[in-house]
Formats: sequence, structure tokens, C-alpha cells
Amino acid sequence: MSEHRHWGGSIRKLWPTETEKFRDHLLRLDRDSRRMRFAHAVSDGFIEDYASRLSEMGSVVYGYVVDGEIRAVAELRKLGDTWGREAEAAFSVEPGWQDRGIGSELMGRVIRAARNRGVMHLYMSCLAQNRKMQAIARKHSADLRFEYGEVVGDIVPQEPNYFSVLAEAVEDRVGYMLAVLDLQDRLVKAA
Ligand SMILES: CC(C)(COP(=O)(O)OP(=O)(O)OC[C@H]1O[C@@H](n2cnc3c(N)ncnc32)[C@H](O)[C@@H]1OP(=O)(O)O)[C@@H](O)C(=O)NCCC(=O)NCCS
Repeated sequence: MSEHRHWGGSIRKLWPTETEKFRDHLLRLDRDSRRMRFAHAVSDGFIEDYASRLSEMGSVVYGYVVDGEIRAVAELRKLGDTWGREAEAAFSVEPGWQDRGIGSELMGRVIRAARNRGVMHLYMSCLAQNRKMQAIARKHSADLRFEYGEVVGDIVPQEPNYFSVLAEAVEDRVGYMLAVLDLQDRLVKAA
């Protein structure tokens, strides 16, 4: 359990039923964080539309959840209909929770998820001034290059093995229980 609980919250995969909480998290990002996350300024309407397509995209989405609210998210997206050699990652940590190591922790989860799906190149793009994201990518041995005013990081995950698959499966079981507890809590509060 301890691996799942950090800084008073827990990191676990999000379920398609948590779309609204995902949306609320993105809406709480301030203007600068939104621009860093989407590489341009985005409106509330854009975020609502983006979040509503969470389950359609077939992504693996990790959330950092505190008292039932999602405060940070890492998205692992396939580039195509099925998982192939390449995938893309994106991160968002709400301003009040930044600089506590949460983005780095989420990066570890995403790399392992990519590894377990046979991904050989995990890309993330960020604005050139996004030093934090580049610092995290560097810590994970990313090859960083400039492309059209953005920085693209390329991480080469290791081959999956028994332990990496088992670690994700064990975490998922605990994550499932935590998601059920969050749902119960939500229902009790709504009653
Ligand atoms: C970028 C982001 C995901 C990082 O998450 P975070 O939880 O704040 O990051 P962490 O605390 O795990 O790590 C930040 C690292 O950047 C380093 N850092 C902070 N400010 C820095 C700066 N100005 N220059 C260089 N490095 C910096 C920190 O020292 C830390 O590295 P360390 O752990 O080796 O000390 C988060 O700030 C965020 O969501 N920003 C808005 C959206 C965004 O930029 N998304 C990324 C593009 S998809």
C-alpha cells in the first residue's frame, strides 16, 4: 500500500467513470499551466471536450488523488489504433501540488506502463521554456531535441519482464480498491 500513497494522496489508474473529475482537474490548471500542458492557450470549452474523450482515446491514465479529487494526471497515449513501438505522454500537476516530486513519480508509472505494452519510443513534447518537464525527462535519460519551437523528449523504455508486469498488476489491484473507496466516499457525500 505504501507505494500507492504519497504526500497525503495516492497514485492510481483512472477509470472511464472518472471523466468529470479528470475535467475538473484540467479546469483547475492556471493559465500558464494550461499553456504548458497543451502547448497553447486553451479555453474551458476545449478542456471539457478534451476530457469527455478520455475513454475513447484508449489511453492509460494515472491520477494523483487526494480526498477523492484528482490533483495531477499522467496520460500515456498510443499513436494509432493499437499499442505499437511508439507512444506519447503528457503530464499535468495543479499549481498547489507542483514541485513536490509528483510529476517525477507519475513519469515513472508512465514509463513502466509503456514498457509493459512493448513501447520502444516514448515521446513527450513541451514548450522550450518548460524547464521542469525537461528536468524530469532528463532524469529518465530522455534524448531531448528542438522541433519547431518545442522540445521533444524520446525515452527508450526497457523490455518488459515478469517483474515489471507483476508490479503494474499488483498496483492495479490496490488502485482498484482505492477507486472503489473514492466512489463510495463520493456517494456518501452526495447523499
Ligand atoms: C511540468 C510538471 C508536470 C512537473 O511536475 P512537478 O510535480 O511540478 O515536478 P517534480 O516536482 O516532480 O519535478 C520538477 C523537477 O524540475 C526541477 N525544476 C524546477 N524548476 C526548474 C527550473 N526552473 N529549471 C530547471 N529545473 C527545474 C526540480 O528541481 C525538479 O527536479 P528534481 O526532482 O531533480 O529536483 C508540472 O509542473 C505541470 O503540470 N506543469 C504544467 C503542465 C505542464 O507543463 N505539463 C508538461 C507538458 S505535457
